[in-house]
Amino acid sequence: MSHPSKTFSKQASKTLYEIIFNRRDVRGEFNNKPIADEVLARLLIAAHHAPSVGFMQPWNFLLIQQETQRTAVHKLFQTANEEAKQQFDSERQNLYQSLKLEGLLTSPLHICVTCDRNRAGPVVLGRTHMHDTDLYSTVCAVQNFWLAARAENIGVGWVSIFHEAELKKLLKIPQEIHIIAYLTVGHVNSFHQTPDLARKGWRNRLNLNDLVMHDEWNNHKNNNLSDHIQSQLERLNPDPKNPENKS
Ligand SMILES: Cc1cc2nc3c(=O)[nH]c(=O)nc-3n(C[C@H](O)[C@H](O)[C@H](O)COP(=O)(O)O)c2cc1C
Repeated sequence: MSHPSKTFSKQASKTLYEIIFNRRDVRGEFNNKPIADEVLARLLIAAHHAPSVGFMQPWNFLLIQQETQRTAVHKLFQTANEEAKQQFDSERQNLYQSLKLEGLLTSPLHICVTCDRNRAGPVVLGRTHMHDTDLYSTVCAVQNFWLAARAENIGVGWVSIFHEAELKKLLKIPQEIHIIAYLTVGHVNSFHQTPDLARKGWRNRLNLNDLVMHDEWNNHKNNNLSDHIQSQLERLNPDPKNPENKS
């Protein structure tokens, strides 16, 4: 027997867009108020309801709360971040150095989100030709977690400046398991309206119309849709402080 599908009110969809636009990568604004287990449970449930190829659900969530462990992870970041800085030209290096790219010591909780590529056996429905779809599925879980956290006014930061092998060794993650995301999670003093990297002059949001193509690669059309993208951007105002968005 089929059930009538649930529909959402205009208010509900407006709220969803607000959550999407106000989600931020949080680095410097964590405070040390602990996250209640019932809230953390909801966020993990949201992550676990992400789509996954062949319903594989390849993820695990390794929660890191011990201070010694969080400090050790921060040390791994510091070494990798020094190497990362060297990869930019000298002018960019100064700006790079001024950026805060993690909140590892100030957030009370870290979550290492992993992907078990063998979770559903050797042949997985939907993954027969695009083998990496299990990795993409795990990223969907991360995004669900991130948005649910924002809806609960909890900050999340994604830190990827590590040597994966070193992080695995520290956290005793088996060789065959892949690290997809290392998240810092916590209550925050405030959320910024625009991405840190835009505020600090590293990189701005691109113009969406330049990224949309029709029927074949590189076919950009100025059509009804592009006008609507422009007017909806003005209506929704996702980046109120970023004039680049209004081009
Ligand atoms: C896969 C991935 C890895 C990221 N790694 C880092 C990181 O190591 N350090 C950092 O400060 N931000 C990291 N970020 C956050 C991005 O810098 C951020 O999402 C982007 O600047 C846009 O800002 P917003 O998330 O606040 O909208 C990462 C984001 C993603 C999706």
